[in-house]
Amino acid sequence: MTQTDAPLDLLIIGSGVAGLSAAVRAADRGLAVGVLTKGELEQSTTRWAQGGIAAVLGGDPDSTDLHLADTLAAGVDLCDEAACRILVDEGPARVLELISLGAVFDRDEGGGLSLAREGGHSTARVVHAGGAATGVEIERALVAAVRATAAVLLERWFATDLVVEDGSCVGVTAVDVSGRVRTVRAAHVLLAAGGAGQLFEVTTNPVEATGDGVAMALRAGVAVTDLEFVQFHPTALHHRRMPRPLLSEALRGHGAVIRDHDGERFVDELSPRDVVSRAMTRRMLDAGVDHLWLDATGLAAFPARFPTIASALAELDLDPGSDWLPIAPAAHYLCGGVVTDLVGATTLDGLWAAGEVACVGVHGANRLASNSLLDGMVFGARVVDAVDAGGRGPSATGVMSHLREPDGAGDDQVSCTRLAFEAPLVGGGDGDPAVLRRELQRAMSRGAGMLRSTDSLSTVVDIVADLAARAPDPSTGSDAAELANLLTVAAALTALAAQRRESRGAHTREDFPDTDVALSRRILVPPGQASDS
Ligand code: SIN
Repeated sequence: MTQTDAPLDLLIIGSGVAGLSAAVRAADRGLAVGVLTKGELEQSTTRWAQGGIAAVLGGDPDSTDLHLADTLAAGVDLCDEAACRILVDEGPARVLELISLGAVFDRDEGGGLSLAREGGHSTARVVHAGGAATGVEIERALVAAVRATAAVLLERWFATDLVVEDGSCVGVTAVDVSGRVRTVRAAHVLLAAGGAGQLFEVTTNPVEATGDGVAMALRAGVAVTDLEFVQFHPTALHHRRMPRPLLSEALRGHGAVIRDHDGERFVDELSPRDVVSRAMTRRMLDAGVDHLWLDATGLAAFPARFPTIASALAELDLDPGSDWLPIAPAAHYLCGGVVTDLVGATTLDGLWAAGEVACVGVHGANRLASNSLLDGMVFGARVVDAVDAGGRGPSATGVMSHLREPDGAGDDQVSCTRLAFEAPLVGGGDGDPAVLRRELQRAMSRGAGMLRSTDSLSTVVDIVADLAARAPDPSTGSDAAELANLLTVAAALTALAAQRRESRGAHTREDFPDTDVALSRRILVPPGQASDS
């Protein structure tokens, strides 16, 4: 269906795991639901996810307490414990629902789910499909399930802004498939628009990951936090192909090791991602090289266990049985996003968020491997349950609890700092959006990527301002609109990164190399005045 005239109960922006699983659930509940996405339903970052979904589906020695402890440890004292508890407790049921929708996960010889171990996990608990093609399988199952419902599907529509009336979100403005500007009205809007890997030159994210959801939220004055925590995946294949092919963390879980150019190992490969990526970056800088090596030659069953990675490598004439594989860290995941409570409500009445676009508090300063698909499924479902139960507006729970009072302690005792931020005015120039996007990516990679400092960040701030002035009006096309979104997110990210004068998780400051216990607090762009559109 593509008709949009009747107002919807729930309009979902984005078609990754959070958006599609929420759409199936909403349709099951009899809600009038629509999914609006700028590509086809199948095009989303979820499709590129390899390793899998972390969930406690096996018995001893695993437990949800252990999964919780690993998640909190990876997040370096910045997770919201209540949100993490929900994640690990409700995750297994969401995985079983996916299976009942038709997703096929790998099984062991006894017919049980085959569980892999990844960095930061104290035991094997990652379910996977097709070896390391988990995202492809989840997307396949969810797209088929959504297409079988009565959901209104607005594919190749580009959502440009939230529509706010009387302080409530009542829909979005969008450019439809024929280029016409439209308004899609809905009682509730769920942002599930993914992350912003396109801020950087080297990323594992597809070309669509342009921070559209976070940018729309910022323009509407919706609270946002933790954007400074951009996770770099340590083992992206060092190759000119973009997005960078991923060499799943599961390879290291199976025994692959990281070596420098002298063949030396220098980091525990099963540490959380921030630790491994930072150690690699330092080693590369010291040696003056742009990549290191993943040695998977000891993995006897490589082609059978990881068929998709094996065939991607074969296309590039690499044989993991005999060749060390060139690797370098690549921008992978935005740990922060739109502030939500424990059911996904944002600071704007009627607006909800789930998945990578949201900050519900489960990732803290560094996401635990394979917790992202889980986050999307668990909190996407919670949004639908809350909408179906007549919920509207946020409660003071989870990350949202920080907003109860300025600089006050939240329920989890992690307090926050508020940062005044104004989204940059983008437009008025006649620059080529593709050229300006590349300039932004170069600047972000050099000054706001793996390593940051006061000077490097202030250089990026100046470049972002210059690019915003040279950028064409966002209404001139989707490439100009994506550039405006990237510039908006870049401005907020650099402001938060400059304010965080310490190193923690995925945020590394060369001028403040230590973690500062006093800064175990969120830095937050607080809600602005939501003005009517
Ligand atoms: C991977 O397979 O290494 C990626 C999974 C994730 O991002 O958690």
